[in-house]
Amino acid sequence: MATTTIENPFAQGVTQDRATQPAQLVIFGATGDLTKRKLLPAVYNLAQAQLLPPGFCMVGFSRDDSCNDETFRKRLSDAVATSGDVREQDAAVLADLSARSYYLSGDFHDPQCYAQLKAKLAELDPKYGTAGNRIFYIATPASLFGDIVQQLHDAGMINPSSVVGQASPAQSPPFTRIIVEKPFGRDLASAKQLNTEMLRYLGEDQIYRIDHYLGKETVQNILVFRFANGVFEPIWNRRYVDHVQITVAESLGIEGRASFYEETGVVRDVIQNHALQLLSLVAMEPVTSFDATDFRDEKVRVVKAVRPIAPQDVDKFAVRGQYGPGFITGADAVGYRQEPEIAPDSATPTYAAFKFVVDNWRWAGVPFYVRSGKRLAKRVTEIVMQFKQAPHLPFRNAQISELEGNILALRIQPDEGITLKFGAKVPGPSMRIRSVNMDFGYGATFGREDSSPYERLILDCMKGVQTLFDRSDGVEAAWALIDPVLTAWAAKPPANFPNYAAGSWGPPEADKLLADDGREWRRL
Ligand code: BG6
Repeated sequence: MATTTIENPFAQGVTQDRATQPAQLVIFGATGDLTKRKLLPAVYNLAQAQLLPPGFCMVGFSRDDSCNDETFRKRLSDAVATSGDVREQDAAVLADLSARSYYLSGDFHDPQCYAQLKAKLAELDPKYGTAGNRIFYIATPASLFGDIVQQLHDAGMINPSSVVGQASPAQSPPFTRIIVEKPFGRDLASAKQLNTEMLRYLGEDQIYRIDHYLGKETVQNILVFRFANGVFEPIWNRRYVDHVQITVAESLGIEGRASFYEETGVVRDVIQNHALQLLSLVAMEPVTSFDATDFRDEKVRVVKAVRPIAPQDVDKFAVRGQYGPGFITGADAVGYRQEPEIAPDSATPTYAAFKFVVDNWRWAGVPFYVRSGKRLAKRVTEIVMQFKQAPHLPFRNAQISELEGNILALRIQPDEGITLKFGAKVPGPSMRIRSVNMDFGYGATFGREDSSPYERLILDCMKGVQTLFDRSDGVEAAWALIDPVLTAWAAKPPANFPNYAAGSWGPPEADKLLADDGREWRRL
């Protein structure tokens, strides 16, 4: 085989091994649910895998004044003991991390508290060799983001933006990086306002807007699958693809997050971010590199190419649902309106399905159907490329009723893997054709447990790599897409909620969305 030199887009960003710099990790919202379930286990896992820099300590900050260093450390050890994300319990690692963990309580709006925080962090710098570097992880409701950033600025805790990845970290000024949780805003106007507020005090290179889906191994593998394999990219377009289905289905309900969910609903919670991230990775044009700018430019370009849904077309392109009582994994399940602290006449959607049309050369005429919901029959996140039928089937008199079109399924979770479905001859004297699967399973091939998305993303932030974080124009483009639907729905309360039973696959209207185009959702 001739040797050719190929350009390697993976050389930058996603796989680049930039050194982790010493830093203090300050968590706002340190006594909250996300910190307990995701952030503390992720930091522990990084420590256990020896991926944290030697110069490291962690400071929790929140309103709760019943918490102190000792109880925060107890929270850490409880989180490590109970989290399904933790791969290996190691008492020595936990003890070391615990000793590096501190807590301060205070009002998020009180300048005095930021002065105390500043003094505390300065006191810890020489002890841990953290060199003034700060990562502020804002794991609070979005309504507090802007205020916290302003307070940090007013307290003189935000160093000017600096170019990341300078030749020698020793020569760089101390960095300030801010990680903010999703949802970023609650509509286009509030996201724009939040961007303006944050960019008043921070450079874009200091803001890490997290979407944990981008930290998932299987999500990153979409890029590898498309761009490291010459065989698939040529068929990744309207000539071969009939349509695309993206499913983010959850069997869990709202898990005690009633007030958050009532405010948010499935579109803001999952579609605007996780589902659209998946769509953009599947639909984007090939990138020249995974440098944060190149990569995010392409991602934003494709989201902007998605046709906005006109107000009068909302019913044709979007379906909403809310679960009623049902039966799930062998037990009765209450309806959404019967969940604790949910209004008995709540109009919050727990299910949504969209038909998106990407107006560009590659995808003209190829619909992208996207659905997500709580309390569905099972937990599964999957992207399905449904290919067009072969133009001519030369098997006269053959039984082809068991032949489906070619399907490529990228299974994000659980049972992570990739399946290609194609027709095969059933052995025997007659010509009978059936669809069979060619399967790749992560577990069987790599045999090791994934690192959790939060580990990957916190580590990337410590390295100053922004590729897998959202940029201001990216979040705004995503909001712009769904804003008209949210507006139309807010103006017209649903007449038929609840319209699907817990444990089902969603409302009948979602089936109709595809049936109107002569298609159906893949059975999962
Ligand atoms: C979160 C949402 O961002 O993602 C949750 O707030 C949802 O409601 C979760 O359950 C799904 O994430 P995962 O990784 O379990 O698919």
